[in-house]
Amino acid sequence: MANYARVIGTGGYLPSTQRTNDDISEFVETSDAWIFERTGIKSRRIAGDQETASSMAEIAARQAIAMAGIQPEEIDAIIVATGTPDRVYPSTGCLLQNRLGIKNCVAFDIQAACSGAIFGLSIADQYIKTGTYQKVLVVGSEICSRIVDWSDRGTCILFGDGAGAVLLERSEDAGILSTHIHADGQYEELLYLPNPQAALPENVNEAGYINMRGNEVFKVAVNTLGRIVDETLEANNMQKSEIDWLVPHQANIRIIEATAKKLKMSMEQVVVTLESQGNTSSASVLLALNEAVRDGRIQRGQILLLEAFGAGFTWGSALIRY
Ligand code: COA
Repeated sequence: MANYARVIGTGGYLPSTQRTNDDISEFVETSDAWIFERTGIKSRRIAGDQETASSMAEIAARQAIAMAGIQPEEIDAIIVATGTPDRVYPSTGCLLQNRLGIKNCVAFDIQAACSGAIFGLSIADQYIKTGTYQKVLVVGSEICSRIVDWSDRGTCILFGDGAGAVLLERSEDAGILSTHIHADGQYEELLYLPNPQAALPENVNEAGYINMRGNEVFKVAVNTLGRIVDETLEANNMQKSEIDWLVPHQANIRIIEATAKKLKMSMEQVVVTLESQGNTSSASVLLALNEAVRDGRIQRGQILLLEAFGAGFTWGSALIRY
């Protein structure tokens, strides 16, 4: 019975401009050594003036479509995760649909901050499993550089720009085995992006930049990701040793290492991109997946654990037989 969502294409895009830790230390009090030791990040990409979430999404999406060997109009649904949409509406999904020249599919955005790609995979999986759609494109695309306060050393060191894409198709071969998504809105004040245009009167002067209490976020992230690992393994009656690759959200190397340790996995089995990309929010997991698929690390038949944590808080995982 055909009831899996199988990965048939991946894609990724990173803007060409790099901003190194040394570049940042020219305008805030920090250092390459401090940033690398506390986060694992050395540099991040910065989108050009003419780039937007939809323009970057198009490049990543076209790569995924080419890898899958399909025509864009075969896609039944486009799901875009972004915290930096070109416009509030039309959705970046609709803008991407138009860029891809697709006339007849559904397209929409989801907002789950850094967990967006996992939420997107979960939504796509439900539609494919039920037979509603055959082919679904999931994209995470972010221009974080425009929503960080470049004078705040607690946040500006962490984030970067980029887009990742994955194309899923209904298949009899195993694909997504399970997804697990969660939210807990009580942590709003630890990590949020104000929307000055729609703010309450008392908050109307808040600048539209990421606000974060990094140390507190860090602790919740480590504990929460530990729990999602257990939940995912239990739901699939699987042992830690059966997982071939951890494909984590790229927020901080210390958070990633804690999850790998929990899984008793060596860092050789973890796809890490953050050293040169920073945290690209909803794009990061799909960028990491794309990189490891294209360089041949990830092979057909292997078991992948994708996971993410973000503002909300939101968190989730996807277990995939690639
Ligand atoms: N350079 C130098 N010093 C810095 C700094 C920087 N860029 N940022 C903060 N510091 C200082 C602080 O001011 C503080 O100094 P103090 O002790 O004199 O007050 C000290 O370093 C420790 O700050 P703290 O915030 O406790 O550091 P940390 O080890 O928690 O590292 C983060 C800060 C932001 C790197 C870390 O908390 C983090 O990565 N958190 C998770 C964030 C995240 O993943 N968010 C996205 C979730 S999707």
